[in-house]
Amino acid sequence: MAKDKSIYTCNDCGATSPRWLGKCPGCGAWNTLVESVAEAPAAPGKNRLGASFAALAPASEVQPLSAIEAVDVARTPTGQGELDRVLGGGIVEGGVVLIGGDPGIGKSTLLLQAVDALQRAGLPALYVTGEESGAQVALRARRLGITGSPVAVLAEIQLEKIIATLASQQPAIAVIDSIQTVYSDQLTSAPGSVSQVRECAAHLTRFAKSSGTAVVLVGHVTKDGQLAGPRVLEHMVDTVLYFEGDTHSSFRLIRAIKNRFGAVNEIGVFAMTEKGLKGVSNPSAIFLSQHAQPVPGSCVMVTLEGTRPMLVEIQALVDTGGVSPRRLSVGLERDRLAMLLAVLHQHAGVATGDQDVFVNAVGGVRISEPAADLAVMLAITSSLRGKPLPKGFIAFGEVGLAGEVRPAPRGQERLKEAAKLGFSVAVVPKANAPKKADKAFEGLTIHAVERVDEAMAL
Ligand code: TYD
Ligand code: MG
Repeated sequence: MAKDKSIYTCNDCGATSPRWLGKCPGCGAWNTLVESVAEAPAAPGKNRLGASFAALAPASEVQPLSAIEAVDVARTPTGQGELDRVLGGGIVEGGVVLIGGDPGIGKSTLLLQAVDALQRAGLPALYVTGEESGAQVALRARRLGITGSPVAVLAEIQLEKIIATLASQQPAIAVIDSIQTVYSDQLTSAPGSVSQVRECAAHLTRFAKSSGTAVVLVGHVTKDGQLAGPRVLEHMVDTVLYFEGDTHSSFRLIRAIKNRFGAVNEIGVFAMTEKGLKGVSNPSAIFLSQHAQPVPGSCVMVTLEGTRPMLVEIQALVDTGGVSPRRLSVGLERDRLAMLLAVLHQHAGVATGDQDVFVNAVGGVRISEPAADLAVMLAITSSLRGKPLPKGFIAFGEVGLAGEVRPAPRGQERLKEAAKLGFSVAVVPKANAPKKADKAFEGLTIHAVERVDEAMAL
């Protein structure tokens, strides 16, 4: 087949150039031109990709929305309860899932376990490995205790061959591990470059839609925490999952960032064991460190991720700083930390202007909800004063710039979880305090606060 001509397209303005240029001729931005395949002149009534798009959009009449039946998508559970939870119930026919995460976090392990379970349940699966040889995959299978696995493995990195194999094998699910190793010979750029990743993912997505094969793309995350191929993949696929967690701890989280077939922000929790990843169905207490005695600078909060409340310990350390004091946070937003320190100063008289402040969410979890504010402030104050918070203490609530404490969504559920795990004192926003006594909160003394200074005084 004759090679299609390459053109260079600007990522910002879409201008094209036959040669690569450092500066875009259209908008003048630097370094935005990436290679892509030039489209051959379209035959009448059909574009270059007509064949594959034809399957996507069979000619049909215009219908009123009310006349179209909303068919529920059929999902096939993967046998991994926690993975199914983030997928919204299971793998969807023709659905494309992107799983991102740092190297070594367990993407290959999880997917091998999942396709093995699916294959055993009677769904033909194909595992395409571009990073490892077949022998390495077999070694991993042995480690996982699935040596006799019937899963088909293909060690290949050329897109055209992968698509041809998929078309002839017609698996129900195909895993591409990883999309960064796949290249198309239509492009001259190296595997892993933006243009290759984008082009290959687009082809695979089209294949999934036209054939009904569910495709799972594995993607590596770059140093700045983005999926390589700057976000271009995220809008192409149906579901985006991110693996999170500290490689030094055994717990791993999978978070749904986007899901056309389910809820976002749902998380799945796994533990990495000697024999692969095991789902943790009751994760509420795994992010607490075990202190024999209460220590200064530690405050437990209840966060609500997806549908499950989880207890997470927030640690803070305040130390005498130099000329320009440092503010560092792990698992929490740094800008938010700066804001909370200002509120602490202005509304509670806790000054940290000349101090280094470090905060950390234990266990490598990332907390994005503002309900962590109160716990962060209490941990900082506790560290600054060298006074531990009482044993069995929890707090949550959002703090505003005026020093007011705002309610967190579904506060009662959070309190119930804390009571269930034996916590005895809670500081919560006034609107979250239970209106009447309930057996579910037994043993928990609840202090309702409206302002930060009240919370700090307690
Ligand atoms: P892997 O799935 O190769 O990560 P990724 O595909 O995301 O790069 O996971 C590799 C890590 O997991 C490696 O450090 C070894 C560890 N591991 C276990 O602890 N137990 C196991 O059973 C397996 C297969 C791997
Ligand atoms: Mg891998």
